[in-house]
Parts: sequence; C-alpha cells; structure tokens
Amino acid sequence: MADPILSLADVTLTLAGNAGPVEILHGITLDVTPGETLGLIGPSGSGKSSLLMLMGGLERASSGRVTALGHDLTAMNEDQLARFRRDHMGVVFQSFHLIPTMTALENVATPLELAGHRDAFDRAAEELRTVGLGARMDHYPNQMSGGEQQRVALARAAAPRPHILLADEPTGNLDGANGAAIMDLLFGLRDRHGATLVLVTHAADLAARCDRVVRLADGRIAGEEARRAAE
Ligand SMILES: Nc1ncnc2c1ncn2[C@@H]1O[C@H](COP(=O)(O)OP(=O)(O)OP(=O)(O)O)[C@@H](O)[C@H]1O
Ligand SMILES: [Mg+2]
Repeated sequence: MADPILSLADVTLTLAGNAGPVEILHGITLDVTPGETLGLIGPSGSGKSSLLMLMGGLERASSGRVTALGHDLTAMNEDQLARFRRDHMGVVFQSFHLIPTMTALENVATPLELAGHRDAFDRAAEELRTVGLGARMDHYPNQMSGGEQQRVALARAAAPRPHILLADEPTGNLDGANGAAIMDLLFGLRDRHGATLVLVTHAADLAARCDRVVRLADGRIAGEEARRAAE
C-alpha cells in the first residue's frame, strides 16, 4: 500500500475553555492514502472541524504527530506552515473565511497570485464559472448568499490544484443542483488532478461517494467503513 499522504499518530488537541483547558480530541490515529476521498461524519461537537484544522496545520496538536506529504507539520513554524498550505493544500472552512473587502474574483485570484500564477485572474474567473458564479464575480461577500459564498470559498481552495483538499461541509448550504455541481468540482479535482480529499459532511449523498467514511464521537474515532471497497 502507498505511503499515506496524510497521517495522524495519537494526536490530541486541548483548547482553552472558560473553566480551564479542555481536551477536544483524544488520541486520534488515522492515515489517508494518496488519491483517497475520506468522509468525516459524526454529531455536532464531536470534533470534525477540529480534526480538519489539525490536518491543515491550522491548529497545533497538543501531543502526537501530524504528517502531510512526508513533512512533519507539528515541527513547522507558522511561516513554514503557511508556505506548505499555499503549495499543497486547499482548505474550505465551515464559515468560508472570505476576505470581506475583496470581490469574489479577487478572493479566488489572490492565492493564485501569491503562488506565482501570471494568469491568476483568468484562472479565477474560469473557476468561478465552474461553480456557477460567472455572474457574481464583482460581488463582495456581503452581497452574496451563504451558498454563493460557500461556492467562492470552494473555487478559491480548488483553483491552485492542491494535492490535498480539506473541506468542512462543502455542500452544507446548497440546494440539490448547486450541491451536485460542487460535488462534481470536488471529484473532478480528484479524477483529473489526483487530489486527495477529506470532506466533513452530514450529507448522505456526499458520504456515499467517499472511498471511506470515518465516524467521530466525543473526540474519538468511533467507527470506520469502506464505501467503495469493490473498486
Ligand atoms: N476554541 C475552542 N475552545 C474551546 N472549545 C472549543 C473550541 N472550539 C471548539 N470547541 C469544542 O470542541 C468540540 C468539537 O468542536 P468541533 O467544532 O470540532 O465540532 P464539529 O464536529 O465540527 O461540530 P459541528 O458539526 O457542529 O460543526 C465542541 O465541543 C466545541 O464546543
Ligand atoms: Mg464543524
């Protein structure tokens, strides 16, 4: 079996709560193989978003080790992590994190420019058309619906063709047609560019298209099922 592209070894995450430190994730061990699509499911508060943040180096593990593409994220400083994300990872947050002073087009083009693409704006426009937002490119985030902002966040994360795409409820705010378009975009990244996907989702249709689904409960892995073992 190929070396994992993403690996968590006995990872814990402790955050500061009002009544002192709270351990949110308790000893998570999980490998993701290159090109795999992993679904993360579990009840609200079970730690799905926290786990995704650890995988993206956006939260630091309190103990244990997180490795991506053979690099130990737990040993990197903030600058190294930022550069690593820019070059290898796309992240779609549950709350989108669009830059409010930038239009949709600028939001998508900026990471491409930072990564040195000369045709950043053309590529950004193309990516926005792919998610059905060709007519919204000059809108600011507060001029867009939740579902539209979500699609901009996805276009932004997908545009640099990351090796690893981490997405928190990528179809959470979308109706059937737009949700299907986003799924096609996600799985197109995998099929055309070999991207590895980690998707937090409550949506049964999205989970059903994952290679493997891991269930979290109370900050632990509570179960795992292969969905497409026959392929
Ligand atoms: N900054 C923080 N400080 C303290 N506790 C936190 C912090 N962020 C999250 N938590 C707690 O950690 C637990 C896991 O949160 P997380 O956001 O990972 O859950 P989730 O599975 O993504 O839930 P949802 O489906 O509602 O998005 C929750 O109990 C939450 O209250
Ligand atoms: Mg969450």
